[in-house]
Amino acid sequence: MKKKFYITTAIAYVNDLPHLGHAYEAVAADTLARYKRLKGYEVFFLTGTDEHGSKIIRVAKEKNITPAQLVDKMVIRFQDLWKKLDISYDDFIRTTEVRHTGVVSKIFKRLYQQGDIYKGTYKGWYCIPCESFWLESQLKEGRLCPECDREVKKIEEEAYLFRLSRYEKPLLKYFKDHPRFVLPSSRKNEAVEFIKGGLKDISVTRLKLDWGIPCPIEENHSIYVWIDALINYISALGYDSDEGKFSSFWPADVHLIGKDILRFHAILWPAFLMALEIELPRMVFVHGFWKIKGEKMSKSKGIVVSPEEIIKEYGTDRLRYFLLREVPFGGDANFSPSLFIKRVNSDLANDLGNLLNRTIPLVIRHCQGKVPRFFEEEKVLKEKIQEVLIQVEQAMNILSFSEALSGIWKIVKLANLYIDRRAPWQLAKKESKQKQLHTVLYNLLETLRILGILLFPFIPGSAQKIWTQLGIEENIENYLLDKGTVWGQLKSGIKVKQEPPLFPRIGKEAKK
Ligand code: MSP
Repeated sequence: MKKKFYITTAIAYVNDLPHLGHAYEAVAADTLARYKRLKGYEVFFLTGTDEHGSKIIRVAKEKNITPAQLVDKMVIRFQDLWKKLDISYDDFIRTTEVRHTGVVSKIFKRLYQQGDIYKGTYKGWYCIPCESFWLESQLKEGRLCPECDREVKKIEEEAYLFRLSRYEKPLLKYFKDHPRFVLPSSRKNEAVEFIKGGLKDISVTRLKLDWGIPCPIEENHSIYVWIDALINYISALGYDSDEGKFSSFWPADVHLIGKDILRFHAILWPAFLMALEIELPRMVFVHGFWKIKGEKMSKSKGIVVSPEEIIKEYGTDRLRYFLLREVPFGGDANFSPSLFIKRVNSDLANDLGNLLNRTIPLVIRHCQGKVPRFFEEEKVLKEKIQEVLIQVEQAMNILSFSEALSGIWKIVKLANLYIDRRAPWQLAKKESKQKQLHTVLYNLLETLRILGILLFPFIPGSAQKIWTQLGIEENIENYLLDKGTVWGQLKSGIKVKQEPPLFPRIGKEAKK
């Protein structure tokens, strides 16, 4: 039986269009999902949309439409973007689907019946844009939300509360026993410090909203949107309906989230799971935030970058590559057109693109367009590939995409150096050097074949196109990384294809 791997992204709010941060998370999760599939895992990759809550109500009102109309319209924009970004999700859950709302309602009832949820009063502060409750002591000066710096609203209302305080000690113990539960460790420390500061019971209902899952205990309350949202990770897996599927994929191997929603995933969600006696996820990986030219994204200030526009102008894989390569995963990142163009021109046009654009025409010119016979393997290339395979595996285990790519680029650079040194165009001039010429070209083509597999998780469309140019008709996704990267599998005699350059250089260097 295949080993299983369950990966999730946060489910996005659909009150606004998808932005670069959403694209980033989806691309990162997709890359890991593709990598694990190539490593032989049966992967379940879940993403979706968070469609309830007061944010949605507010925006729908502004647009003069119903919340249902708003979410139905917006979800399409997310799904369209995922398609354009080549996101290979296995399921897309919407929190308005019955398969989800039913589970949320049932879980709520059970926790109420077992005493983990009780009726009381919630007194405190609420940030509508973040859908977060805050204590007075947590607010920033001027009574601002510590997450988004916006004004918070004082709330005192009858509510149902979850006994989060009950899980303070069990959570601390869990963190101690599972040092890799939250990564990077700076985020783990942040969560642990928060718990040590004392956990208060948390409101899990709001007084009836017209748009939310009704509280099953009392009609005039709605379930708090965060409780609703977190449960997607198990409702989509068939918790309480498809025991076989649920038990084969749960616990999640990775919940991929941004740093602003750490508390919900590292404290509230595990406490909820403990109350339900469900095993905790193996890892919550917290990525950093993208800023635009050094500033926080803000629609009102016009600081936004539309992933659609970048894809339209530069293509999916340039965007995927940039997002994954530019910064160590986990840290914050900065987007500017000049950084983007510089990076993709240097790595994709100059290094990778040139390697392919130099090799294929030589094969066409000097080998009748066919993969030449294999005479002798080039040890330096083969050994570099072996070394990089280990580096990639280690990097991917800790979601270090930039590290994995920088490893792969060691092969690309070495292969370019190999062409320069061996100068096949010179060898082609002498009849006596034919064997050497064929050897050099075979080694380059074989390196490109292996690069296709290694690059597939990161830039799937382009990796497949590399194979097409090599004359290989199979789909890379049907391969296994470990077997496929064994040297010497490219068949002599197959016809290569010259196609337009994969990554033509972007001309106008940096629109600043
Ligand atoms: N709906 C909640 C998540 C519920 S998960 C059970 C939510 N939605 S969101 O649309 O605001 O954010 C979705 C994901 O995008 C989150 O992981 C968030 O951290 C991430 N990002 C939002 N802005 C971002 C950047 N500027 N940069 C990188 N990621 C960002 O939170």
